[in-house]
Amino acid sequence: MMERKIALLTGASKGIGYATAEMMAKKGYELIINSRNTADAAKKLREYGAVVEGVDGSLGDAATIKALIAKVEEKGQIDALLLNHGGPPVKPFMEVSNAEWETYTSIMLHGPLRLLRELTPIMQKQQKCRVVAIGSFTVKSPRAGIVLSNSLRAALVNALKTAAMELGSDGILINTVAPGYIATQRILDFNQRYADQENISKEEVDQRTIQEIPLKKFGEPEDVAALITFLLSEENQYITGQNIHVDGGLITAN
Ligand SMILES: NC(=O)c1ccc[n+]([C@@H]2O[C@H](COP(=O)([O-])OP(=O)(O)OC[C@H]3O[C@@H](n4cnc5c(N)ncnc54)[C@H](OP(=O)(O)O)[C@@H]3O)[C@@H](O)[C@H]2O)c1
Repeated sequence: MMERKIALLTGASKGIGYATAEMMAKKGYELIINSRNTADAAKKLREYGAVVEGVDGSLGDAATIKALIAKVEEKGQIDALLLNHGGPPVKPFMEVSNAEWETYTSIMLHGPLRLLRELTPIMQKQQKCRVVAIGSFTVKSPRAGIVLSNSLRAALVNALKTAAMELGSDGILINTVAPGYIATQRILDFNQRYADQENISKEEVDQRTIQEIPLKKFGEPEDVAALITFLLSEENQYITGQNIHVDGGLITAN
């Protein structure tokens, strides 16, 4: 009989998170998925035969974290944890309010770290777990106009690097995956905003973006999900504490 394996995936109803949920289900993991509204994704995953439970709520809310911990305790184990959420608003430094700093710090930094911290005793008891957070190529190469993303993700990468160093002896492997330009709603919204600002078409902005990428195309959610799924599975035996790019060669600095 196949060993029972449980994966908890936040931000898993769309885009890269959803693609990862499908791949983990195909690998035989039982899923706990989270986002603010998981109903459609859970239904679709069940149609593929996956065992799925949805927990609705923002990763920035303490009540969501509590509900996720309770769900893992009910299952009695956790083998894989994906820390993900939607991207923050595209806003320049001078336009981000104090309230927005607090909201997005809760969602992008405190929420993921709290969830990991509170699940760690269970992972330590098992002496194994794989953890991945989704970040962004902008951690290594910050872009103007997205200060929330540039800064909060950089803090998360370094916090997780620290956790990876401290928890490796408990069999807990922790990595961050940094997408480049991936064809999801996020990139559509992003490029539409630049098009509106510059009074040009979204297609022109898309073409300009594609010219920046050595592989000359946007990535697909599955391109990123494939690496995340590998890192979250037991096939990953020796990679931890890394921030790995899936960006079509976009970032040239190491
Ligand atoms: N696509 C790219 O090119 C790109 C590039 C660099 C970095 N990234 C980053 O990679 C991550 C995933 O990107 P994506 O393109 O897959 O995004 P996406 O298609 O917008 O999906 C985001 C997922 O997160 C969920 N979510 C949103 N806010 C949440 C919250 N507060 N708490 C829990 N879940 C939440 C969404 O579902 P609900 O609406 O149901 O909550 C959805 O399932 C994002 O952080 C994004 O900024 C993406």
